[in-house]
Amino acid sequence: MLYFDHSATTPIDQTVQSLMSELNQNMFGNPSSIYDLGRKAKHVIEKARRQFADSINCEPKEVIFTGGGSEANNTILWNLVHQKKKHVITSSIEHPAVLLVLKELEKLGVKHTIVSVDKNGCVNPDDIKNNITSDTGLITIMMANNEVGTIEPITDIADIAKEHDILFHSDAIQVLGKLPVDVKKLNVDMMSFSAHKFYGPKGVGALFINSGVTIKPMIIGGSQEKNVRAGTENVSGIAGLGLAAEIASKSVNEDSSHLLELENHFRNRINEQNHDIIFNGFAKKHLPGLINLTIPNISSDLLLIHLDKEGIAISNGSACSSGTISPSPVLQAMGISDKKNLESIRISAGKHNTINEVNKLVDSIGSSIITIHKNSS
Ligand SMILES: Cc1ncc(COP(=O)(O)O)c(C=O)c1O
Repeated sequence: MLYFDHSATTPIDQTVQSLMSELNQNMFGNPSSIYDLGRKAKHVIEKARRQFADSINCEPKEVIFTGGGSEANNTILWNLVHQKKKHVITSSIEHPAVLLVLKELEKLGVKHTIVSVDKNGCVNPDDIKNNITSDTGLITIMMANNEVGTIEPITDIADIAKEHDILFHSDAIQVLGKLPVDVKKLNVDMMSFSAHKFYGPKGVGALFINSGVTIKPMIIGGSQEKNVRAGTENVSGIAGLGLAAEIASKSVNEDSSHLLELENHFRNRINEQNHDIIFNGFAKKHLPGLINLTIPNISSDLLLIHLDKEGIAISNGSACSSGTISPSPVLQAMGISDKKNLESIRISAGKHNTINEVNKLVDSIGSSIITIHKNSS
């Protein structure tokens, strides 16, 4: 199996897996229990909080564990229901765990403005500034896009937010392990993360919440996670997230240069095949290893099926629901026609991929294109 879909999810790191199995067997106490087994489980969580805080440069008390990235984003957005200022500014290329939530929140009186992006998928900070009103309580712009990898100018946007006394949240779910993340340097108030994007377990996420910012819980019940997220903690999952974050942040420079090497090799080799490929996204500033490209006159779905038959996993941005293929909203927002949109694929390399695997991928794409052309003529 050749796996090139690391933006969808990553395989769990072996040391993370071992730690989690060990904890699941031996550390089953409820962290809220006062006896030894409970206290030990609590200690595991607090160790993970320290590991995670160190990997994004914040204080452990500024970290809240959640049930994944979507929940982290939802927690920040649902908090607006309790705020006086009920206007949010976001961008047209955010994940559905932002855009669909904002749509839902309209029903509860939370209004939002969606700023557009340029052809590279970049938000213009001036557009954010120009849409601020006296009612704006939150700006939320992702650090890097999950479909095209474009890195957004979030420090500029954070500065604008500070100038206007508005909270700034950023979805950094695709970033950890690919770029260094320093929440203090980035000047964000809140940031979302998800363990399964950096070789950790699925269904566990983290929120950085700057001390001084108060967030009301979206999930209400017990007083876990400083009353921000009720529910008995996923002890092994949280420990897995902490260790995965530590590994990711320690090897980020090495991993990102490896990903860039794989990416450059892919670009050079695929260009040699002369398919008139168009690369989508911002070549200058993007996540290493994430390539979105259009192959004219080749349906991405057909190509995906061909590659799947050869044991290769890549993705396209389009969502397939009830048998109808819809174009990716992200590519649409970048002004890409629906035809090209449905001819676009996403390849996202991971730290375990090799040059040899990239060669096989390029060769398989080449032979699939020839077969698809033959079958359609
Ligand atoms: C940018 C971005 N935000 C949010 C999410 C949702 O994260 P999770 O799958 O952990 O709920 C994803 C996952 O695909 C993502 O890529």
